[in-house]
Amino acid sequence: MTVYRIKGGKPLEGSVKISGSKNALLPIMAASIILDSAVVLENVPDLRDMRTMCELLKYMGAEVQFNDNRLFIDARNLKKLEAPYELVKQMRASVLVLGALIGKYGKARVSLPGGCAIGVRPIDQHIMGLRKLGAEIEIKDGYIEARCDKLKGCEINFDIVSVTGTENIILTAVLSDGISIIENSAMEPEVDDLINFLNLAGARIERDGRRLKVIPATSLKCERYSVIPDRIEAGTYLVAGAASRGRVEVRGVIPEHLTAVLKKLEESGARVKIDGHTVTVEGNRIKPVEIMTAPYPGFPTDMQAQFMAMLSVAEGTSVIRETIFENRFLHAAELMRMGADIKVRESVAVVNGVKELHGAHVMATDLRASASLVIAGLIAKGETVVSRIYHLERGYERMDEKLSLLGAEVKREKIEGL
Ligand code: EPZ
Repeated sequence: MTVYRIKGGKPLEGSVKISGSKNALLPIMAASIILDSAVVLENVPDLRDMRTMCELLKYMGAEVQFNDNRLFIDARNLKKLEAPYELVKQMRASVLVLGALIGKYGKARVSLPGGCAIGVRPIDQHIMGLRKLGAEIEIKDGYIEARCDKLKGCEINFDIVSVTGTENIILTAVLSDGISIIENSAMEPEVDDLINFLNLAGARIERDGRRLKVIPATSLKCERYSVIPDRIEAGTYLVAGAASRGRVEVRGVIPEHLTAVLKKLEESGARVKIDGHTVTVEGNRIKPVEIMTAPYPGFPTDMQAQFMAMLSVAEGTSVIRETIFENRFLHAAELMRMGADIKVRESVAVVNGVKELHGAHVMATDLRASASLVIAGLIAKGETVVSRIYHLERGYERMDEKLSLLGAEVKREKIEGL
């Protein structure tokens, strides 16, 4: 078992370079399936989820090489049009290959992703859209069996805003016969990075708010592309800086992707400075705030857990309403073991700020919960051991090294037997 051993109580001071975005990279890796060229992706973070997607592409027959944040993919001649359960259960975003396989080959067999710690996470919207485009979809033995003789452009209305749902439908519609209009689409920057990539490859996808117009292409070619920076990684370090009442600078970011997060940081008392692609946060006394998660450009659900750690030592009571996932407060119980005073009622968490947290052995349950526990460990008195760090390493590149650059005392340790 790999753990982080953290000695808390020191304000973080310093500057870190932000890595490429996991949630932009994954759909773009799936998009390599529909290219008529090999592609070199740059600014690629070395993450567990990136390596899982590489394994899946290799399993299907693609040539994949990762080296020094650069990823070469040639997925032009796939042998297997299948995403097996063993891989999909490690990473739900594997479902993104479904749309690409149907778009390119008219055939796919993809394991149902199943739920995860934060929710059931159905893919009914993905399936609705694919059926509208003309795919015949059957669920058999835990797999999605899809086939399609001819994909026809159409109008698709999402009942619920879905990030990977929107991405999956784009990956299919972009190779269909005729224009598609997608209503109520997700507007996350990661969706627009996929759109930008496909437009550079020859597609014509135009956005007007939540409406997308997909004008298909007969052939898509893109040989080199650099992935956008990870706004959630950046937000995580900025919250750590504010929570520890230190001064943290994140470099290589796109500030407008962080608007909702920076506004909430300022509301909680932090000083925020934007200078080009660098954002600096200076911690101060922490004021309580109200947070309600929402689809972009609203406050991101992927930042909720990190703020809860900081608000657990605010001077007053904060209210956090999680509207995206039905079970995304698992970090609350672990924070309470560190002395936080949090009451969770369904989709609302009431956080009564305490004077200080104290270190404890805590367990990560999901990617952003693990980031929350690391932040809590950084601000707690004494030592905190965060176990199941594999959750963290799905989405944060070398977090122990980056935190050490900020003066934190964090050690990544393998503890046998645990
Ligand atoms: C993406 O997940 C992100 N993952 C998640 O990031 C992020 O939390 C989430 O979007 C919301 O922003 C990737 O991009 C790889 P959704 P996704 O479909 O696409 C419901 C992280 O921490 N829904 O936008 O799976 C769903 O249950 C991860 O990096 C349906 O009901 O999320 C949820 O309640 C965690 N039916 C809501 O919509 C569907 O067919 C939003 O989910 C699809 C979704």
